[in-house]
Amino acid sequence: MESINLLEHKKRPWVVAHRGYRGKFPENTLAAFEAAIDVEADMIELDVCLTSDRVPVVIHDETLDRTTDGKGLVSEHSLSDLKKLDAGSWFSAEFRNENIPTLEELLQKIRGRITVNIEIKLESFEAPAPPDSIEIQVCKLVEKLGMTDSVIISSFEHLFFARIQRWYRAQKKSTALRMAPLQGSPLAEEFAVALCKRNKAYSYHPDESLVTHSLIQTLKADGLRIFPYTINDEKRMEKLIKWGVSGIISDEPERLWKVIREQRSLE
Ligand code: G3P
Ligand code: MG
Repeated sequence: MESINLLEHKKRPWVVAHRGYRGKFPENTLAAFEAAIDVEADMIELDVCLTSDRVPVVIHDETLDRTTDGKGLVSEHSLSDLKKLDAGSWFSAEFRNENIPTLEELLQKIRGRITVNIEIKLESFEAPAPPDSIEIQVCKLVEKLGMTDSVIISSFEHLFFARIQRWYRAQKKSTALRMAPLQGSPLAEEFAVALCKRNKAYSYHPDESLVTHSLIQTLKADGLRIFPYTINDEKRMEKLIKWGVSGIISDEPERLWKVIREQRSLE
């Protein structure tokens, strides 16, 4: 399903496939995203940063070394250089034809098939912002492709959200994109709510170790959704679902589906 509006009617947590189906496929490649669609995840999560010629590409690390056969910073390579790299063999030889997708290629492929959580990597934040800053490129692309109801934008760099709101104001439009602060270090509940409100957030995406029953209830009472990352352990999935989490970001979407189905059969 490609509509967040429609997903909101589901009375169960959403299955969010982290970097695609990362547990069984090379992360942030088309193979991993297609696999997530095949197992009926509700949403894929992906990471974007800029090439040296300022094209948003889908890759997690600041450097190429771990997930490709290249070396060095992504931001110091042009798109044509990056396209020559193999982004699959590090995981398994059968994926040697995978390459680094541009955000546009990926969105074109999945448009109308699944929703997307686009994480803008904090390393891509530029101060002051040039006209083609990553967050503005992402907004323009999502608008151009008519995907505003399919996308949540998240980041550990919360200043991106004010920039996105400012861009919409300059277009004389209200902010159509759903935004979500990522949070990796402890934050008191009232500060988490204040962070979300200040950024006009749709949802809050904390590290799973920071999530308590009370935090979930506090956020929900304020009309906020909560999508913790990254949970692969069944027992932890069960607990978070019992506590009423809005969705779970997992490398193992099939495992998460199994836990959701088992819990629903007990209800
Ligand atoms: O968006 C959730 C999660 O992906 C954040 O951490 O490092 O996996 O991008 P990371
Ligand atoms: Mg991410």
